[in-house]
Amino acid sequence: MKVTVVGAGNVGATCADVLASREIANEIVLLDIKEGFAEGKALDIWQTAPINLYDSKTIGSTNDYSKTANSDVVVITSGLPRKPGMSRDDLIATNAGIVKTVTENIIKHSPDAILIIVSNPLDVMTYCAYLNAKVDSKKVFGMAGILDTARYRAFIASELNVSPKDIQAILMGGHGDTMVPLPRYTTVSGIPVTELIAEDKLNEIIERAKFGGGEMVKLLGTSAWYAPGAAAAQMVEAIVRDQKRIFPVCAWLNGEYGMKDIYLGVPVVLGKNGIEKIIELQLNDEEKALLQESADAVKSVMEVLDNMTANA
Ligand code: NAI
Ligand code: 2OP
Repeated sequence: MKVTVVGAGNVGATCADVLASREIANEIVLLDIKEGFAEGKALDIWQTAPINLYDSKTIGSTNDYSKTANSDVVVITSGLPRKPGMSRDDLIATNAGIVKTVTENIIKHSPDAILIIVSNPLDVMTYCAYLNAKVDSKKVFGMAGILDTARYRAFIASELNVSPKDIQAILMGGHGDTMVPLPRYTTVSGIPVTELIAEDKLNEIIERAKFGGGEMVKLLGTSAWYAPGAAAAQMVEAIVRDQKRIFPVCAWLNGEYGMKDIYLGVPVVLGKNGIEKIIELQLNDEEKALLQESADAVKSVMEVLDNMTANA
């Protein structure tokens, strides 16, 4: 299997490193616009192979898309990360231009590839890639829910002093402050989390998860990369190994949850065909209202992109 990661920065290089060290793909291409940068990162990853004992090969490319030809899966991380005080939406104009060019180049060389978008603002950049890829929406989707859910699960594991392996959870909505963690669908080895954590403490955890990206930006001066890179690699793994994993993924809705023509985080089955099924949870009225609020926030940024495109 051949996987390309566009953007050899913090998230892209971490994703490529996980793909290589876990032998998720045997051929990995890291591409960046910065001269020599992707080649350097790829060489460093390849030189890790004799130490960590794997044989997946990573190569780098400075904007030469012919090296990405016939990729099975492409992860797009190119774009500016968030800086302190910057919202994800501030990034829209710059990153939309980058995602458009990258998507067109990728599809030209790998028309059958499945695209996983990571660049922010996530839901809208996924929409941007979809508009420019002109392929089935089941093959263009975004990574955010695995990361947001991982933050929520990690906070629960710390609170209970138990293994994060035992926390199962689902989270929906946009990759922003309106995301919707779902305590009703959160369990600790099958035990409802509401039996283990008091409501006010759980609400604190939910609020922390919702602003989890901002917390990292404040600490690091840029956005996170270990968990985002690993999350994107986990999606690649589900596809190339046809695992049929259920993950929260930013997917194009066509009537599901009563919504149409919007990219939003929902639970899906991921396998070799990309999104193989969107799972519709039986949300209660409160959860539906929160999801609608999140959808409205995403839709307003999608409209910004639509207006920018119309005026271009
Ligand atoms: P970074 O700045 O470390 O890396 C971005 C890379 O993209 C740079 O190396 C840059 O040279 C490259 N690039 C820019 N324009 C390009 C083009 N036209 N073609 C190829 N490469 C190009 O940033 P980082 O931290 O890796 O973040 C990348 C993106 O992912 C940002 O937009 C960030 O906000 C987003 N992000 C999204 C997350 C999510 O959950 N969806 C989580 C973390 C970051
Ligand atoms: C994150 O959630 C900023 O989207 C980035 O870490």
